[in-house]
Amino acid sequence: MTPAAADRTRLPPEDVFAAGERNHHISNTAYPIAHDLTWRPYRVARAEQRAVVERAWSGIDDLCLYAHIPFCEVRCSFCEYTVVGQKELEHTEAYMDRLEQELELYRPIVSGTLHGFDIGGGTPSFVDARRITRLVEKVHGMFRLAPPDPARMHPSGYGISIETTPKLAAADRDKLRAYRAAGIARISMGIQVIQPDLLRVLNRSENGVEQHSRAVENIRAAGFERLNVDVMYGFADQSLESWRATLAHAIALGPEYITLYRMRYKLTRISHQANRVQLEAVRAQAALSKQMLGEAGYTARPGKNTYSRLPEAGTSEYLTRRVVEGMPYLGVGLGAQSFTHTTISYGDGSVGKNLPPYFRSVDAGRLPLQDLYELPATQMMAKFVAVAFYFGEIDRAAFHAKFGVSVDDAFPDEVAFVKARGLMVDDGRTLGLTAEGARHFNGVIALFFAPSVQRYLVERDPEQAEDMHRNRKLALTVAAE
Ligand SMILES: C[S@@+](CC[C@H](N)C(=O)[O-])C[C@H]1O[C@@H](n2cnc3c(N)ncnc32)[C@H](O)[C@@H]1O
Ligand code: SF4
Repeated sequence: MTPAAADRTRLPPEDVFAAGERNHHISNTAYPIAHDLTWRPYRVARAEQRAVVERAWSGIDDLCLYAHIPFCEVRCSFCEYTVVGQKELEHTEAYMDRLEQELELYRPIVSGTLHGFDIGGGTPSFVDARRITRLVEKVHGMFRLAPPDPARMHPSGYGISIETTPKLAAADRDKLRAYRAAGIARISMGIQVIQPDLLRVLNRSENGVEQHSRAVENIRAAGFERLNVDVMYGFADQSLESWRATLAHAIALGPEYITLYRMRYKLTRISHQANRVQLEAVRAQAALSKQMLGEAGYTARPGKNTYSRLPEAGTSEYLTRRVVEGMPYLGVGLGAQSFTHTTISYGDGSVGKNLPPYFRSVDAGRLPLQDLYELPATQMMAKFVAVAFYFGEIDRAAFHAKFGVSVDDAFPDEVAFVKARGLMVDDGRTLGLTAEGARHFNGVIALFFAPSVQRYLVERDPEQAEDMHRNRKLALTVAAE
């Protein structure tokens, strides 16, 4: 795919770095930014979607799979994920049927060896355990499975991971046992924060500390030896002390892994709070995390947000392969994202978050794709690197294998810039963030974005409304390039 004019000329690294820092709420791993402008030239018309998808998957022999289950008992006000409304909660069986049918639609198109399978959400444990078992069996009937790796080191063998909430894990031990019996080895549970006041604001009171020890007890009794808990920082009204208490609580639960999420406000119900959160406060919270987790035996290289007290990465096999190697993945379910070497797609429901359009597509035997983009290398590289920043480093060999060019040749000025400023360090195998680079995460990551996205950041005024990309003047500048 030939890049559009707006993606042909890179911007000066100094300007882009400053723009990333200025726009720190959106300059992060959730690439692209303002896709309705920046990716508009690459959008595939509906009539051509199937042919493009077939072409993109042909020749791909190694992949990961993600199944999205969009149900939650209540919707947390900070959540950016595709979660359906209250009135749709009774449709779980019908939904699981569609998920299986969607896999069937992909059967003639996608094949090969499966390296990781994530069942995410939403809250997958909301649905009946038998449906999860059935889903796993179906997947195992469709793909060859990479041999499991008992050492679970990177790159690891095949593995399945699932997400739950404290409330559901505390309530139902049998469900958790059924997951283990189905071969699911890793489980992830959101703690987020522990202060009752903040939980109330976040519409998450039912998942407070009262649930946590029982949930962990059940998870362990079911036989899980790989437990991750998620905690969140960067909220308005979250003091450093309250963050300290959340971290201490998460550590006391004794999970193998702890993942820190800095609150991303884009497209959430509390996006209006973003401008009340200052970069310095967020940096202090990040520094405290590193210190407390380090003292408790959890480690992560600078910039990585999953901390592990074991030698392994701590992320699921699906995420690890995706982050390190940019391995293609098929996403099924409402609003799910898929990624090949040349395309990125978002499933039906990624915008409206309601079930009927997804059901209609699957029932009609049509791939349920809301948006499909066939992207030039500059955009695919930007996506690869943005995702690689989950681990704070770019794997040189993986980059070369995927794009046929070295990271230095693809980004000569940017690599020189980060090295000269001590933001990234080159150990031959990886180009990784230094501690200083991790502090300037939002500036560094922007350096690898495609030019159209960089220009958007450079022109964007963070003091203005979140949805500033609707500003016509700016829209015209980007689109007309
Ligand atoms: C898909 S959610 C599933 C977790 C599970 N449903 C729960 O609530 O316990 C995965 C994680 O994403 C994180 N998350 C959700 N919305 C976020 C946002 N707007 N910014 C950053 N992280 C977010 C939360 O930490 C959450 O635990
Ligand atoms: S954080 Fe978890 S429980 Fe809350 S809305 Fe998002 S997916 Fe659902």
